[in-house]
Amino acid sequence: MDEEIKGKGVSRRDFLKGLGGGAIGTAVVSTGLLDTGKAEAYPTEATGTRRGKSVINLKVNGRGYRLEVEHRATLAELLRDQLGFTGTKIGCNRGECGACTVILNGRNIYSCSQLAVWMDGKEILTIEGLVKGEKLDPVQEAFIEHDGPQCGFCTSGQIMSGKALLLRQPNPTEAQVRRALSGNLCRCGNYNREVAAVLAAAKAR
Ligand code: FES
Ligand code: FES
Repeated sequence: MDEEIKGKGVSRRDFLKGLGGGAIGTAVVSTGLLDTGKAEAYPTEATGTRRGKSVINLKVNGRGYRLEVEHRATLAELLRDQLGFTGTKIGCNRGECGACTVILNGRNIYSCSQLAVWMDGKEILTIEGLVKGEKLDPVQEAFIEHDGPQCGFCTSGQIMSGKALLLRQPNPTEAQVRRALSGNLCRCGNYNREVAAVLAAAKAR
């Protein structure tokens, strides 16, 4: 049974659906994805599904994975705990701070507010996926040059929101950058440098 949010009487799944939308998908075995090897029999009626868990296929940073995930697990937990992509941070864990921002099918989202089972067939980009070999992404370079990171806790989320903006708008105005980063809180108050970094990255491109 889903854990209940204290004092509210709603399940974690209901809470996340309210934030992230979408239905829980049935796991589908697709071709072209890596099998990471949980090849045991699933003792229930639905193929790939058993009580409290489902098997999903997804791509993270261009690589395919086939994984068994708990129905209550979030995408942030999947990325950090199952796949080891710890560059995605968890701050509030309730869709308020933006530290957990990743890119889902080209759009920035809060990974703490999406269930892992909703990711079946989806493509995720995390901060680790921005690096090409030894070369940092222009947004990462610009954050370094403009002192974007202070304590650094919000930085990967800020960079992913900036990157998502540049994917859909290569030459944004300052107002557009500020709006794009408005869902990412910085407790160090370093907003002007984070905005300057995204603008510089746009120019560099
Ligand atoms: S950790 Fe996801 S929004 Fe704060
Ligand atoms: S750099 Fe410290 S929270 Fe943003």
